[in-house]
Amino acid sequence: MQDWIKAGEIASEAREFGKKLIKVGKSHLEVTQEIEEKITSLGGGLAFPTQISINNVAAHYNAKIDSDFKFKEGDVCKLDLGAHFNGAIGDTAVTVDLGDNSKLVRASANALKAAIEIVKPGIEIREIGKVVYNEITSLGFSPIRNLGGHGMEKWQIHTSPSIPNFDSGDRSKLVKGQIIAIEPFASTGSGLVYEGKPSEIYQLQKVKNVRDSSARKILKFVDENYKTLPFAKRYLPFNKLQLTVGLSLLKRQGLLHEYNILPEKKDGSLVSQHEHTLIVGEQVTTE
Ligand code: CO
Repeated sequence: MQDWIKAGEIASEAREFGKKLIKVGKSHLEVTQEIEEKITSLGGGLAFPTQISINNVAAHYNAKIDSDFKFKEGDVCKLDLGAHFNGAIGDTAVTVDLGDNSKLVRASANALKAAIEIVKPGIEIREIGKVVYNEITSLGFSPIRNLGGHGMEKWQIHTSPSIPNFDSGDRSKLVKGQIIAIEPFASTGSGLVYEGKPSEIYQLQKVKNVRDSSARKILKFVDENYKTLPFAKRYLPFNKLQLTVGLSLLKRQGLLHEYNILPEKKDGSLVSQHEHTLIVGEQVTTE
């Protein structure tokens, strides 16, 4: 368990550091990179690319290397980051409000707090969803129903169970020592996200021999450095041509999966998110 506790401490410190950097006029890419440097300087690995998703985008917005995007007045910024220590993961998120959406931000924060209060060995998963749903709807917002928390194992960011943001009827029970992340999303919109544009966040599916030399080099680099954890295109030390050819080939062959950006179905909506990682029956590692 020590590795999970250490990963959680690093993730927590990086989150507190990162949320202070998100300010009107600051560069999205630079803030992202500063946070990732913080994680590595604390002795952690990057469990997945640091994401800062804005306004109607609920998740998976990762800075591109040539992005000149800056935070602006009114933005609702979800900072979701992950640190790992020997493969054990701390997954945590916070919302930074650059406008006047404090009630929306409070909705996901309250939901996370209320959910953590009831987590213990033997509790049914549906109970967590019920609490999240009640907290968010009581403030007049919609929980996002097709996003949720998840189990984790070493080097695996998403394993069973999935932890819904509503009462899904799942009667399976949490067990002592299980690692879970709880992540309520509150929305002013429909409560559903769709698969948007590609995010430049990838994950290794399997390793096998490939003929193309760019693809082969990328595969080797990913397997050695990230194993089965998600990584960003901007982490790869290859030239533009190698990346274009190699990545599209690996994607086509099913060796790499690329995640999509996840916007709210309703245009113009705003989404907030909070997340912690827990060891069931023991502690919140990312507090
Ligand atoms: Co998560």
